[in-house]
Amino acid sequence: MNFVGQDILSVDQFERADVERLFDVADAMEPFARRERITRVLQGAILSNLFFEPSTRTRISFGSAFNLLGGEVRETTEIRETSFAKGESLHDTARVLSGYSDVIVMRHPEPGSVGAFARASRVPVINGGDGPNEHPSQALLDLYTVRKEMRARGGGIDGLRIALIGDLKYGRAVHSLCKLLALFEGVRFNLVSPPGLEVSEEIAAALRRRGHAVNEGHELETGIHHVDIVYVTRTQEERFPSQEEADRYRGLFRLNQAIYTEHCEPNTVIMHPLPRDSRSQAQELDEDLNANPNLAIFRQTDNGVLVRMALFAMVLDVVGRVDADARPVTWYTGKRTPR
Ligand code: NCD
Repeated sequence: MNFVGQDILSVDQFERADVERLFDVADAMEPFARRERITRVLQGAILSNLFFEPSTRTRISFGSAFNLLGGEVRETTEIRETSFAKGESLHDTARVLSGYSDVIVMRHPEPGSVGAFARASRVPVINGGDGPNEHPSQALLDLYTVRKEMRARGGGIDGLRIALIGDLKYGRAVHSLCKLLALFEGVRFNLVSPPGLEVSEEIAAALRRRGHAVNEGHELETGIHHVDIVYVTRTQEERFPSQEEADRYRGLFRLNQAIYTEHCEPNTVIMHPLPRDSRSQAQELDEDLNANPNLAIFRQTDNGVLVRMALFAMVLDVVGRVDADARPVTWYTGKRTPR
C-alpha cells in the first residue's frame, strides 16, 4: 500500500508489510517524542481534529503527534458547536473543512460516518473511531505495543497467545485489533466476554479462516491461563440500547494482582485501550496492578504518539525529510518517576 494521500479508515486496508513499515517509521519517531530532538517537517500544515464523541488520548495524542512534527492543530469537539446542529450534512461539512486543512482526524458515533465524510473530503481523513465499527489507529498502536513488549521478552507477534477480555461486541478497538493480528501467523485467541457480548460471528470466522486458533469463553480465570497478553476492555455502556442493560454487565470481570498472580504466567503483559473504568462498581483493572511491571497500559499510550506521528509522516509524505530537518532540544526535559 502507498500511504501517501490515503484516507486511513479501516485496518482492512493493510497488509502485513504495510504495518511493519509503519512500525519502523514509528520507531524512528522516538527521539522526537522523548524530547531529545525537534523537527519542523510539517511546519505550515494544519490538522483539523474533529471529535464528536468523548476522547482524551486519541484526540490529544493525534494533536501532539502533529505538533511534534511542526504542524498546527485546530480542534472541534461538540456537535452542538458546529453546523451539524443546524442540519448540515457530513458531505457539506467535509467539503468546507477540507478547504481549511491538510489532513483531518474524525471520531463520530455512527458506523461508516467517517468513510462518508472522507468521500467528500479534498484531503486525507483518518478514522479516530466510528461508533462500534473500527478504530484503526488504536489497533495499530496496540499491535505496535505487542511487538515491543514481545521483543523485550524474546518473542514476536507470530505464534502470539492473547486473551481479549470484556465487551467484545461493541468494542471497536478489539474489532480492529483482531483483524490486524489476523495478518500474522498462528495466533491463539482466547475471546472472553459475558454471554451476550461476544465478538461477531463474522470476526471469529475470519480469524479461523486464516488458520488462527479461536477459543471463546465466559470465565476470566480460565481465559487468562497460558497467554502472553491479557487485553482488557471497558463495557461500552454508551452503545447499549438502555442504561439498565449496560448496568447488568458492569464489574463482571475484574483483574487484580491476586488473580494475576494465581492464573497468569509470570511475564504476561496486561494491556487496555483505556480509559479503564475505575469506579468501584467496575474496577476492570484494579489499581493494585499499577506496581506490576507487566502492566503496559501507559507504555501503550506513549506508543500512541509514535504511531500517530508515523501515520502523519507517511500520509503527508515527509518520512525521508524528518531527520534532515532535526535539531536538538534546548529546554529542560527531565521527567519524574510518577508515584
Ligand atoms: C477506546 C475507544 O474510544 O474506542 N478508547 C480509546 O480510544 N483509547 C476504548 C474505550 O473507549 O473503551
